Amino acid sequence: MSGFFDRYPLARNGVTLVGAMLTSLGAGLFLVFLLLEFLGLESNPYMGLLFLLVCPTLFVAGLVVMPIGVWLARRRRAAGRPVRAFRWPSVDLNDAAQRKTAAACAGLTLLNVLIAGVAAHSGLEYMDSPQFCGRLCHEVMEPEWAGYQAGPHARVACVQCHIGPGAPWFVKSKLSGLRQVYAVAFNTHSRPIPSPVTDLRPARDTCEQCHWPEKFHGDVVRTVRSYADDEANTETAIGVRLHIGGINPLRGTATGIHWHVSAKNRIEYVATDDRRQHIPYVRLDDGSGTVKEFIADGGPSGGIPAGERRVLDCIDCHNRPSHTFAYSVARAVDESMSAGGLDPSLPFIRREAIKVLSAAYADKAAAFDAIQNGLRAFYRERTPPVPDEALSRAVETAQRLYARNVFPAMRVTWGTYPNNVGHSDPGPSPYAGCFRCHDDLHRAADGSVISQDCGLCHTIE
Ligand code: HEC
Ligand code: HEC
Ligand code: HEC
Ligand code: HEC
Ligand code: HEC
Repeated sequence: MSGFFDRYPLARNGVTLVGAMLTSLGAGLFLVFLLLEFLGLESNPYMGLLFLLVCPTLFVAGLVVMPIGVWLARRRRAAGRPVRAFRWPSVDLNDAAQRKTAAACAGLTLLNVLIAGVAAHSGLEYMDSPQFCGRLCHEVMEPEWAGYQAGPHARVACVQCHIGPGAPWFVKSKLSGLRQVYAVAFNTHSRPIPSPVTDLRPARDTCEQCHWPEKFHGDVVRTVRSYADDEANTETAIGVRLHIGGINPLRGTATGIHWHVSAKNRIEYVATDDRRQHIPYVRLDDGSGTVKEFIADGGPSGGIPAGERRVLDCIDCHNRPSHTFAYSVARAVDESMSAGGLDPSLPFIRREAIKVLSAAYADKAAAFDAIQNGLRAFYRERTPPVPDEALSRAVETAQRLYARNVFPAMRVTWGTYPNNVGHSDPGPSPYAGCFRCHDDLHRAADGSVISQDCGLCHTIE
């Protein structure tokens, strides 16, 4: 080092030394993170921010500062002023006063590092929390937050599906996060927030942290209850035995609904609308040399129609795994009655609840008033009278169903967001869902079609 300074005496100045320290710190931290990442010890995506943004910044800042120091020193020399060579302060720990100062400095530095570390850690943890994602921009995220809390993933952090592990997706999401903050601050965001999320990370990297096709097997039986609009709210129950299927890890065979996501199959499709509801073209490569192209209505000259091309993954069916809303008012009311919410022993409750819930209201307060007044007005006339306690409970439950599914400020109402698990008539959904492809109309060159055979996916008991 002293040889270096003998050769370049102008580099021996405070500014250049600070630059050198910044650059070395940047390089050092980079190596440490690289090692942690390599050993698989570091999984918090926020560390990626340090890794990809802070280290290079330090490194480059140091490189910029170093020549500035030299330039300043040269100017000083040219002006005839003495060049003050940088000297390290001399510390003599035999001197009691200096020893005390050194000990105090070391102690305080340690304390500061600890405080800064804890603060940074809790800050990062907070930014990872669903509260941060779901509630910071309260109105904008209200629909997703409400669906999330009531859904099966209420204990899974937003970032686990929306970002997933690793630094590159983290940085990408922070950049788009900045754009979102801008959109909220200047009120330029869309209402409702558009779905699908076009740059969502492939589901294989996120969902498969917790679910994987080898884990699914067999059937799932659902009992679905629905009610009539008569005085007795007459109940009909059916059992739907869904052939969930999956991959048999012993034989490597794929069956049933999760056959689509076996590692061997690759299904691509073209959607011609931005909600991915209209799918005129499907291509299947089954990994054993068979490639089939199913076309419902071809593009010009019968070829592949123009549109977004995608490889099918989990979210092409499970597009509402977390932000689940009822398919329709009728479905919400039926589910509530079945689950012990709205009480089927209240005469006409299905018909009346659907009536007050279907109307359009300016905001939540107006809706709550109208639901309360509407139901009370109807039951006030009845003989024998309906107990007030039962009526209050019905009003509250109906208001909750509204607040869970309709968000006037964000222009989200019944059916705004398609749900692709299921199908329209005779199914529960107003959306085509599985029937986007399974409609007996998508035809391959050999004449086979993507089947709508009712027994393919489920039996009804
Ligand atoms: C189980 C995984 C999962 C979790 C947990 C999750 N999301 Fe989502 N989110 C999705 C999927 C899948 C989509 C829709 C993808 C598509 O169709 O492109 C989505 C869509 C969205 C959208 C776009 C609008 C819409 O409703 O489609 C927003 C906004 C959103 N999520 C916010 C959040 C917030 C805030 C949280 C945490 C409170 C969260 N998400 C938690 C999987 C998840
Ligand atoms: C961090 C772990 C985790 C991630 C990531 C995750 N899930 Fe889940 N998922 C769960 C848990 C836990 C449950 C609840 C299981 C239960 O209730 O038995 C669940 C349940 C489900 C269910 C059943 C829902 C129901 O109503 O019974 C579906 C479907 C599902 N997840 C799909 C997805 C999809 C699609 C993704 C990716 C977008 C995803 N999950 C990501 C942990 C996760
Ligand atoms: C072709 C459409 C489709 C695709 C693709 C798909 N699923 Fe499913 N999945 C379904 C249907 C339909 C059900 C049953 C629906 C129900 O229970 O309401 C289901 C059920 C599930 C369940 C609940 C299983 C149970 O035993 O209750 C989980 C978890 C799940 N899927 C996760 C995934 C994951 C993860 C992927 C991607 C690797 C995936 N699915 C891909 C259609 C699909
Ligand atoms: C993007 C198009 C597409 C969508 C959407 C889709 N499928 Fe399929 N599905 C296919 C294709 C292609 C095949 C294979 C047809 C063939 O080989 O004859 C298939 C086959 C199947 C099979 C038979 C698997 C086997 O064992 O051979 C089942 C069961 C199935 N789909 C269920 C569903 C369900 C349930 C949904 C909705 C939740 C759904 N599919 C949505 C394209 C799709
Ligand atoms: C490609 C797969 C597939 C085919 C083919 C199919 N279904 Fe379905 N069906 C589903 C799925 C998935 C659901 C939704 C289950 C859920 O809500 O969890 C469903 C739900 C239903 C329901 C409603 C149960 C409820 O939740 O209220 C009925 C009724 C039904 N199907 C009837 C039929 C009939 C009739 C046919 C033949 C014309 C048929 N389905 C063909 C996949 C299929």
